[in-house]
Amino acid sequence: MAISAQVKTQLSRSLSEQIAAVIPGGVDSPFRSFQEVGGHTIFFNKGAGAYLFDVDGNKYIDYLGAWGPSVLGYCQPLVVAACKKAIELGAVFGAPHVLELELATELIKLYPSMEKVRFVNSGTEAVMSAVRLARGATGRDLIIMFEGCYHGHSDSVLASQDHKASSGIPQAVAANTVRVPFNNLPVLEQALERNKDKVAAVLIEPVAGSMGVIPPQPGYLEGVRKLCSQAGCLLIFDEVLTGLRVARGGAQELYRVKPDITCFGKALGGGMPIGAYGGPSRIMDELQPLGEVYQAGTFSGNPVTMAGGVETLSLLANPAVYTRMEALTARLFAGLQAVITRLSLPVQLQRSGSMFAILFAPKPIVNFQDSLSIDAKLFAKFFHYLLDHGVYLPPSAVDAAALSSAHTEDDIDRTIAIAAEALATF
Ligand SMILES: Cc1ncc(COP(=O)(O)O)c(C=O)c1O
Repeated sequence: MAISAQVKTQLSRSLSEQIAAVIPGGVDSPFRSFQEVGGHTIFFNKGAGAYLFDVDGNKYIDYLGAWGPSVLGYCQPLVVAACKKAIELGAVFGAPHVLELELATELIKLYPSMEKVRFVNSGTEAVMSAVRLARGATGRDLIIMFEGCYHGHSDSVLASQDHKASSGIPQAVAANTVRVPFNNLPVLEQALERNKDKVAAVLIEPVAGSMGVIPPQPGYLEGVRKLCSQAGCLLIFDEVLTGLRVARGGAQELYRVKPDITCFGKALGGGMPIGAYGGPSRIMDELQPLGEVYQAGTFSGNPVTMAGGVETLSLLANPAVYTRMEALTARLFAGLQAVITRLSLPVQLQRSGSMFAILFAPKPIVNFQDSLSIDAKLFAKFFHYLLDHGVYLPPSAVDAAALSSAHTEDDIDRTIAIAAEALATF
């Protein structure tokens, strides 16, 4: 099947130029800019199910998933209705709300590692708060994390050598974060040994989503769990991306490893801005007003976000949602793999559940060092061919793409056909 229609994006181009004059780089989050793929950003004005619509009137099959939240697709009608109902009764009170009770109760049921949970407003806040809690609960300062993992933009978890680096982080703060390679137990063991009795927590994305969707190698997460217990430090799973996505019970259900603290965001709010972190009462009760660790938020647990979360969890209670996303992602990968094999291209397909990456690299990516071999220029060419033909991928050669339960088999087959045309030009 030859795919001809090419999208025209003049209005997006003009708006991109205008917005760059008033917002740095034209974006409120650098991930959104097209700096890695070139060209101008697209201005969307509507999302419906698996599709995005832009200001020039083009329709796209979407695999950005809003960088994760859109697990049920855009504007799921029941989620929209629940949020509308909540906002009409008051968007924020700054006092406890019955929907907080409902969402906390349901989330704890799905994640047996947690007895209590706190709601915040983003994944960044969730991780930042979990790190402070771990430091407060253990009386230790050091955090061990993994090269190439992304945990939001709080000072402790951003550092210089990775895909998302930043200046402006005090040396004194950075000195309290130790980085080791992902999927390498001996190096983690040495780092824990070297910093004996100083490590508050090991912070990990159980499936690394910002350097090519890297699943943990067999036995790796179990090994990390064991080393943390031996070292007397906490294990924090950053499930901001994987929570409710790779499985309803997240990566901890998939890999059967129990963290001490779990962080959530993205999919939990059904599109509303959300974050959450939770664990056993003995740790969570270290938070003020019971304990001494401070964390707060004017909008935390607001009824509109909580309504989005409650409705989303209720829809995700249907196991068919996950079976469907698994089958669709497997179909996409089977189709793409057939093309890659036929054309003998150096492309790696990596995924966990419905989060996936198409990586222009000669061999599978298992850690940050490997991810440096990804050819961003080839990805940019692929990205733009798909964009021009109505398929929207994340504008990043390494970040996770995501599929929703609203995608159809036709969407997948069309995507494969367009990708095949693109790859045939390589
Ligand atoms: C694993 C992980 N943790 C934390 C964050 C930060 O979440 P937010 O962008 O909601 O602050 C992200 C966002 O991409 C993420 O992927």
